[in-house]
Amino acid sequence: MSNIAVIGTQWGDEGKGKIVDFLAERADIVVRFQGGNNAGHTIRIREKEIILHLIPSGILYEEKICMIGNGVVIDPEVLIQEIDELERQGIKVGPDRLFISEKANLIMPYHKAIDIAREKGRIGTTGRGIGPCYEDKVARRGIRMIDLKDPDVFMEKLEENVREKNFYLTQFLNADPVDSKKIFDEYMKMAERILPYVRDVSVELENAIKKGKKVLFEGAQGTHLDIDHGTYPYVTSSNCVSGNVSSGSGIGPNHIHHILGVVKAYTTRVGAGPFVTELKDDVGEYIQKKGKEFGATTGRKRRCGWLDLVLVKDSKRLNGLSSLAITKLDVLTGLEKVKICVGYVLNGKKIFSRPASIKDIAKCEPIYEELPGWNEDISGVREFEQLPENVKRYISFIEEVTEIPVSIVSVGPSRNQTIVLRNIF
Ligand code: GDP
Ligand code: IMO
Ligand code: MG
Repeated sequence: MSNIAVIGTQWGDEGKGKIVDFLAERADIVVRFQGGNNAGHTIRIREKEIILHLIPSGILYEEKICMIGNGVVIDPEVLIQEIDELERQGIKVGPDRLFISEKANLIMPYHKAIDIAREKGRIGTTGRGIGPCYEDKVARRGIRMIDLKDPDVFMEKLEENVREKNFYLTQFLNADPVDSKKIFDEYMKMAERILPYVRDVSVELENAIKKGKKVLFEGAQGTHLDIDHGTYPYVTSSNCVSGNVSSGSGIGPNHIHHILGVVKAYTTRVGAGPFVTELKDDVGEYIQKKGKEFGATTGRKRRCGWLDLVLVKDSKRLNGLSSLAITKLDVLTGLEKVKICVGYVLNGKKIFSRPASIKDIAKCEPIYEELPGWNEDISGVREFEQLPENVKRYISFIEEVTEIPVSIVSVGPSRNQTIVLRNIF
């Protein structure tokens, strides 16, 4: 087996960045295929913490190639900042190892202005212009990377968009208009920096796969934030499920050999929306503090709750998960009892998949199984056999209920705080 997709099974922030960075050692190429800089993927190497928003988490290995696929929406300003920041840290990010799809849509200043002006706590978006950018893509008026190559085409598209956006911004949202000349100048300047990286990612991937290169596909957000399958409308604006690996990077689904679902040992969510196992008590606060559950992009406190296997089982079906990586098990250390949700009660009836209506989700009562907790510090454990019995029991319980084998267990934020149960390559 060679190519692996790493997918979030909950509401994002499962630790995908850490897992991708860990697996990247054995891969050749890491590809982002959806989302944008709403993502915040944290990687810890010894004392150094790096948060990546756009560039794939393989970038820290100098010999790996990273690709940003057509399905990603790209804020060029953030991209340049991220490249510069990495280079400041001594990591070379030249066009010889970062390829950006010519078909990727650009996040424009009016996308951010619209996102912020109409948000006002509605969904709790990251305010990065993600939703408005995908709206324009689907409406067939998006501006793409390739358009940076032709200033006339760029200006024509820009002016057409700005006319409409300024009407919407000023007349409907009571916000300030944007200036197309200013945007044009800024984007043309940024184009000089970015164009050397722009390529046909689909062709590059095909060539690499033909040569037998191993590819890791790095998901952003999580299955329950998926535009179709998530807790709509409290979702992001892209498909986060594994089905989008193919369309978002330009390769056939036959090239994906293993789908790894990343599961945080408990559940978190940033922003608004229903959350059946949410804990608004001391335990929730304990997990939030111990797990340092603050958004990597916006710094907001993440809401915390018990592990919800209804969500994970939905993710199994929606993604075709091959195995699981369980992260942040160390955070649960010190709790006398731990609970895992195995089903919901809705209107007096037991159900085992999440309903579509958010009103129904809000009415669901969790069915919990209670397991004994553990007090041992597990952050230094590197072999499965050395984990305390109650931790092993927690892991086996997840395997039994989901009927998915666990391949990786993470006991801390660093690359080496990882236990491999099964080799998935
Ligand atoms: P992502 O968006 O899925 O990549 O996840 P984030 O990076 O937003 O959030 C995960 C956070 O948990 C980051 O701060 C990681 O450094 C941290 N983390 C990842 N795995 C572990 C783990 O096993 N234990 C602990 N304590 N922290 C972890
Ligand atoms: P990673 O890749 C957690 C959430 C936002 C908001 C909703 C819509 O780090 O797991 P958007 O800006 O996408 O329109 O916001 O989605 N959200 C995330 N939550 N992790 C993420 O990414 C997220 N990206 C978006 O908080 O509720
Ligand atoms: Mg994150």
